[in-house]
Amino acid sequence: MANIIKTILECQDITKVWENEESEVVAIKNLSIEVKEGEVLAIIGPSGCGKSTLLEVLAGLELPTSGLVQSHSNNSMGTRKDVTLINQRLYLFDWVTVRGNIELPLRWFGIPAKERQERSFIMIERLGLKGFENIYPYQLSAGMQHRAAIARALILEPKVLLMDESLGSLDSQTRMLMQKFLLDVINETKTTLVYVTHLIDEAVFLADRVVVLKARPGRIKETILIELSKPRDRYSSEFELLSKKIFDLVTEEVGSIL
Ligand SMILES: Nc1ncnc2c1ncn2[C@@H]1O[C@H](COP(=O)(O)OP(=O)(O)O)[C@@H](O)[C@H]1O
Ligand SMILES: [Mg+2]
Repeated sequence: MANIIKTILECQDITKVWENEESEVVAIKNLSIEVKEGEVLAIIGPSGCGKSTLLEVLAGLELPTSGLVQSHSNNSMGTRKDVTLINQRLYLFDWVTVRGNIELPLRWFGIPAKERQERSFIMIERLGLKGFENIYPYQLSAGMQHRAAIARALILEPKVLLMDESLGSLDSQTRMLMQKFLLDVINETKTTLVYVTHLIDEAVFLADRVVVLKARPGRIKETILIELSKPRDRYSSEFELLSKKIFDLVTEEVGSIL
């Protein structure tokens, strides 16, 4: 199966060393990942193992110290705009309206006002933000703020959306609703999702494959296929079995750094 499905984004043998005057940290080491078109790939691993570093490198925001990152989509917007990152902090601008926030990437690319409005209108509808577009992000509920961040990330129609523990700050009820909502949105928009999380049930609920990373420097410990049909029942025995398997793998790694 893996050979038939196109690889849309990959990194080959990447190492990232963070350096400052006094010290250097090897955040990830000789890591290779192939992201397949249309899949949801979850990345899980202990705190500090290099998950955020990996996403920054995949997003093209940071260069790897060695190794190669390649995107295989043909987006006309140019290099790497086909890959978008939503950070742990959403970075919505509180002094700009919700619509203004969502239109920002279009402004950066000089898209004229009329087209900006048409495209943001579609995203506002799709993300369930109608009626909230003219207020400011701080006036939105936490769940709505996440919807606005997703709308802004998807407005350039990226092929790959990278999310860095983005839903982690939500209360568990809202998070569960947002997880389901996120799956619906990326299905509708045919977006590939790479989702970093430290929450095992989030990984098993969302992902088609889960990559478990070793403690720093981040390397692949194991990749687990999640072949349960979606939407998934968090209380089924299959779900629990897979969660336990991943829990054991992550615990081994957490144990090694405590
Ligand atoms: N911009 C940076 N400058 C220097 N060191 C960094 C930077 N970002 C992350 N690191 C270091 O790299 C390691 C991995 O961090 P990070 O990628 O944030 O891990 P995770 O997201 O898995 O918690 C940590 O030791 C962290 O201190
Ligand atoms: Mg992180």
